[in-house]
Amino acid sequence: MMKEKIKIALIKQSNRELESSHIYLNMASWSESNGFDGVCNFLYDHSNEERYHMLKLIRYLNGRGGDFVKINYDNKFYIKNENYESLEIIFEKLFEHEKLISHEINLLLELSLKEKDHFTYNFLQWFVKEQIEEESLIKMLLNKIQLIKNNQLGIYLFDKSIKNIEINNKKL
Ligand code: FEO
Repeated sequence: MMKEKIKIALIKQSNRELESSHIYLNMASWSESNGFDGVCNFLYDHSNEERYHMLKLIRYLNGRGGDFVKINYDNKFYIKNENYESLEIIFEKLFEHEKLISHEINLLLELSLKEKDHFTYNFLQWFVKEQIEEESLIKMLLNKIQLIKNNQLGIYLFDKSIKNIEINNKKL
């Protein structure tokens, strides 16, 4: 049986992943309504990816505990201002957000070691790898958009080239 402390912490993380999915979704919608075809597809796909992260946690929790895990979406985390204004602001916010998620995963790892829950520690290794990939991808995109600044041709090419970035389609 999983310890209550671990269970609560993993449920909180499921909530954060759901919130991440909503953040990416809102940004995708903003990008679509502003004519950024490539960026909006990238962000819609990433929103699905975040939902996958949430599902992975829920299914682990259900598998280990057998209790019904109820997700209460609590919109109190992290990003409040959803007036994005530009692609640069979007990628700045995403990079900050992914760093926060990495920090949360680190805290979960520390807790699982403290509580001697090696199953959870092992399970979380998948999220460690995922966060390394996500931070590096978003940072690379942020660097590009910061380089481009307000150059219209640069923004057009950025939007076109982001279509070639594949988001892994994962299966549970
Ligand atoms: Fe689920 Fe982008 O971290």
